[in-house]
Amino acid sequence: MTAMTQYPAGRARAEIDLGALRANVRTLRACSPGAQLMAVVKADAYGHGAVPCARAAQEAGAAWIGTATPHEALALRAAGIGGPMMCWLWTPGGPWREAIEADIDVSVSGTWALREVVEAARGAGLTARIQLKADTGLGRNGCQPADWPELVHAALAAPEVTVTGLWSHLACADEPGHPSIAAQLSVFQEMTAFAEKAGITPEVRHIANSPATLTLPESHFDLVRTGIAMYGISPAPELGTARELGLRPVMTLSASVALAKQVPAGHGVSYGHHYVTKSETTLGLVPLGYADGIPRHASGRGPVLVGGKVRTAAGRIAMDQFVVDLEGDRVEPGDRAVLFGPGDHGEPTAEDWARAADTIGYEIVTRIGSRVPRVYVNECSDDDE
Ligand SMILES: Cc1ncc(COP(=O)(O)O)c(C=O)c1O
Repeated sequence: MTAMTQYPAGRARAEIDLGALRANVRTLRACSPGAQLMAVVKADAYGHGAVPCARAAQEAGAAWIGTATPHEALALRAAGIGGPMMCWLWTPGGPWREAIEADIDVSVSGTWALREVVEAARGAGLTARIQLKADTGLGRNGCQPADWPELVHAALAAPEVTVTGLWSHLACADEPGHPSIAAQLSVFQEMTAFAEKAGITPEVRHIANSPATLTLPESHFDLVRTGIAMYGISPAPELGTARELGLRPVMTLSASVALAKQVPAGHGVSYGHHYVTKSETTLGLVPLGYADGIPRHASGRGPVLVGGKVRTAAGRIAMDQFVVDLEGDRVEPGDRAVLFGPGDHGEPTAEDWARAADTIGYEIVTRIGSRVPRVYVNECSDDDE
């Protein structure tokens, strides 16, 4: 079953091809043969649906599941997702005890977090699995090199925790050759060496995201954490398209044309009349808007395959709908408008929308809202090649 053979019942839908996701996981594993793979399924698997994507990734050999927030990780456990799991975005008073009881590795970037996890582990009567995060140069979360010895020694002194991982995150992996990459890898080596010398024996050391997995073998260490590439989207145009990277887009977003009508020349279209018909024409109404995550910034530029041609959003993208100029072509209400997909049938890709909206593919798929039902295809891995 492909994206194009089934007509979507209802206003719109995001078809999620789990066979493509599994194939992408296998491709990424082949790129990082010496490392385990963590499937990053934060933000509802970048809009694709965390539970089915986590399950599919595991079927394709992902050893770990990663989320940003503890609530995301706990929801996966509640849905029956087992195996090694980690979450990294903690705030004071977070659900440490629930995470420890659910056997989730928790990231610790500072001594405040260590204190909270120690207390929670004591309360639970369990040993917490913690991964110490180093800020090797991203300047975001993570422990600064100057504070690292204190954190390492405090973790070693706490019998309530086991340090299972040492990890960090890259700032510019999507710009191969950027000087910060080598600098961060060098700081990471130093910080992990310090921790290991002090007595920590981590199960995993990791720093690579998708672009590093694809382009930087020296960053793979024991584990790579892949998000965007797993969903079949290139991390950056400079690295090539998904197709060039051997990846297959997982999400196909389509809608049912809501109206097709004749209008005279000189007719303004949508708020602000930023598009005016040049001649008598037909307009098609696509019932998706910025409330569904279609970027308003792509007004006048966002591409959509409808009536056998790729057309651009005519005028403003509104909250629930936008218009395309069908230029007299015959399109009926109920015909399918495909905003993006793998590109097999001439439809645009999420990467095309990223360009049109002056953003990144990550944002295009992640923002597709909850009003758009996700429909899963190729759920069964038995048919995989
Ligand atoms: C800490 C961390 N690791 C890994 C990833 C996955 O990154 P990517 O989607 O580029 O593979 C992210 C996502 O931004 C992240 O925040």
